[in-house]
Formats: sequence, structure tokens, C-alpha cells
Amino acid sequence: MALNIKRPNGTEDVLPQNVHKWHTVEKIARDVAESYGFREIRIPTFENTDLYLRSVGETTDVVQKEMYTVSAKETKFTLRPEGTAGTIRAMLQNGLLNEAMPQRVFYILSCFRHERPQAGRLREFHQFGLEMAGSQSPAADAEVISLAKSLLDHLGLKNIELYINSIGCPQCRAKYYDALRAYFNDRKSELCETCLSRLEKNPMRILDCKSPVCSEIAKDAPVILDYLCDECSQHFSKLQSHLNTLGIEFKINPKIVRGLDYYTKTVFEFVTTEIGAQGTVCGGGRYDGLIEELGGQHTPALGFAMGIERILITMEKQGCDFLDQRKCDLYIAPMDENALPKAMQMAKQLREYGYWAEYDVVGRGLKAQLKYANKIGAAFTVVLGDDELSSGKVKLKNMEKGEELELSLDDKFTEHFDAICVDNMLGNIDSLMNTDEL
Ligand code: HAM
Repeated sequence: MALNIKRPNGTEDVLPQNVHKWHTVEKIARDVAESYGFREIRIPTFENTDLYLRSVGETTDVVQKEMYTVSAKETKFTLRPEGTAGTIRAMLQNGLLNEAMPQRVFYILSCFRHERPQAGRLREFHQFGLEMAGSQSPAADAEVISLAKSLLDHLGLKNIELYINSIGCPQCRAKYYDALRAYFNDRKSELCETCLSRLEKNPMRILDCKSPVCSEIAKDAPVILDYLCDECSQHFSKLQSHLNTLGIEFKINPKIVRGLDYYTKTVFEFVTTEIGAQGTVCGGGRYDGLIEELGGQHTPALGFAMGIERILITMEKQGCDFLDQRKCDLYIAPMDENALPKAMQMAKQLREYGYWAEYDVVGRGLKAQLKYANKIGAAFTVVLGDDELSSGKVKLKNMEKGEELELSLDDKFTEHFDAICVDNMLGNIDSLMNTDEL
């Protein structure tokens, strides 16, 4: 019986006709991050499970329900559910945190969470994210938020709301936890089993439980903003004043607590209402205790991550522009086996110049070859037959305009082709300039 294996639930294939959309987001993200002084870091796809228990937190949904963990001999490893923990581990292990502060790194990586798949929620998804270590100033929070906003703008996205909140430091949180425990204790019998166990250890986690009953109960729970200490409160006001200075609009949403345990003080999310329930395209915040928790010196830090799939869904919905897809520059059509060696040589030279050149490797007749050239959107074609080989001349056909130009089949063919391509490109720009739209 034939195997009928499909891709796992909650994963996606990115096909060649769509990959330019990913390149668009990745290129713009890299450019914007670099313009703010961030350098790329690449980290392993899996880490020691303990890293996530310590950082993301044992009472979070991610750790309790969503991790892909394997045991190899004595050790447990987990496919990264997010990028912050591994990035901080790598910065610590490689001494980046002993260098000039602040340290700024960005990453583009895949993440794995065993969630219930739905539009915008996958089991393997991708993040563009970044981390800045070494500043406790709210100016750093404003800087990171400003980068995220600038990236969304450069991608052409509109109507994305920024929500900010402060979830305080361990000191203010102690008082807040008492208030939450008192509130949830009254409705203890309705909570799901996981939240019941969270009540003692980490009642704030009940606020982002995905169970409908728990989230309904959580709606009227006390909010952290009412429990902030003076320092956290001033930090939050200063951040707001910096955002105003930068002209970045925001709303305070005291309900944002984020689903990961490492956050302190500032948390934020960029949200769109245009792609359904999973509308948070970017989430982040400050985590001043994490580096110490993972064995480093006390080093305040912060960052964010954007879900690339959610960004792409929103860009498509809003009709944003993507980088052009690359197309074949020249298709060489040998009429028979005799002409094949010449086609091979020509293609080799053109490719060395950086052109996308193709010739028939299937053994098709001329008509089928030209049909194929058309299908792949080749800009130019040449036909190579006995006549062309003996005369040393070919007709270069511009497929868009239908024009033909005679070219010698000598050593200078590639140079001439290059000149024609440049002319053609300039011609296209000229004709664009003549349209009313510009
Ligand atoms: P997070 O909110 O868990 O934060 O994820 C960041 C973003 O990843 C979300 O806003 C969303 O766009 C995307 N995302 C999350 N889960 C899924 C999923 N199952 N399917 C598709 N997209 C998803 C973090 O991961 C933190 N590490 C962010 C951070 C960096 N905080 C500080 N530095």
C-alpha cells in the first residue's frame, strides 16, 4: 500500500511561489534591527529542558502543556517554544554580557508549541525577535517599542494597536498575588485543574488561561497597576512620556500579563483585529531578573518577538507590497542534441554573471520548450538550431514586448546580453516615469 504521509497538524509548507513574502519580512526586519544597532544571533533549535522550566516558568501553559520534549539517554531536551531563553543562555555562555553594554541581538527562528491549531496559531511557527541587555532605563523600553513600531510601518502595516502595561517587580507582585488569591479563592470550585494548582504558586497565570470558564472568571480580577510600587510606577510613567516624545500612540491595557513568567515591569503587545482571534502580532517586555536566574550577574534586559506567520497574514489581508519574485532572465532553447553543448556553455557563462539562465534538460521539442519558458516567465529566449550554430547569430526575443534583436554567438554574448538587460530595465523605468501615476 502506498504511504500517505501528510505534514503534521499545525505545521506549514512555504512553497517557492510564496517564499519571496518571507524574504520581504526577513529583509526589512534585518534592516530595521541593524539600524537600531542590533546584530544577528543564531541559537540551537533545542535546549536542555531545565532552561525553559527556569525561564518561561513551571506554571505557564507553555511549560505545562505545550512543550515538545525528548529524552536522550539521561537528559531531557525541548524544542524551543520561544527565543528569549536560548538567546540569553547563549549570551551568557559566550561572554557577550561581559562586553560593552547594552548588548543588542536579534534572531529569526522557528518555535514549537503543542497548541490547538487554528488560523494564526501553529505548532511550528516563526519569530523575528530581539533582546537588549544592560539597561534598566525606560528609554531602553521606548527604544525597543519604537523599533517594533518602525518595523511594522516599514512592512506597510496599518491599524495595529500598541497596548502597554506594567506587571511590576517581585515586591509589588507579592501584594498583588495576595489580592488575586483572595479573588479566585471565592470561585475556586469553577477553576480548571491547572489553574487550581496555580492559585498558590503563581495566581497571575490564571489570568491567561485559555479555558473559557477561567478567562470569564478572570475578567473581573484585580489589576496589577493598582499594586505597583513607586519605582515601578515611575518607570511606567517615564516610558509613557518617552513614547509621547517619539510620537508613538499607545493604550494602557492593565489586563496584559503575558504568558511567560520572566517578565517584570513593562509588557506590551501590538494587536490587529483584522485576522481573527490570534491577532497579537508582537509581544514583549522587560525581564530584569532572568539573567540572574540563569546564573549571570544581575542585568536588566528586555525584548520582543513577532510571529512571522501572523505578520504575513495581516500583510496579505491589507494588500501590503512584497519584494518582486525573481524570474528567469534567459531561456535557451536548443532545437536538438546538436545544439545542447552550446546551450550549456552559454548558460554557464550567464550564471557566472549572476543571471538566471535555463535550457532544456528534459528533451522537449521546441514548441514545448517555448511554452515552458512562457510559464516560468522568462524575460528573454533564444532558439539554438543548426542555422544559428553555423551563422554564429541568434535572435534574442524579449518575451514581454515581442521584439527580437540579433546577437552574435561569440565570447561577448554574455556582455551584450547584460547591456540589453540594463537597457531594458532603464526602458521600463522610463516608461513607468511617463505614466500618470508617478
Ligand atoms: P510570545 O508572546 O509567546 O512571546 O510570542 C511572541 C509572538 O509569537 C506572538 O505575539 C505571536 O505573534 C507569535 N506566536 C506565539 N505563539 C504562536 C503560535 N502558536 N502560532 C503562531 N504564532 C505564534 C515570546 O515568545 C517572547 N519570547 C517574546 C519576548 C522576547 N519577550 C522578550 N523578548
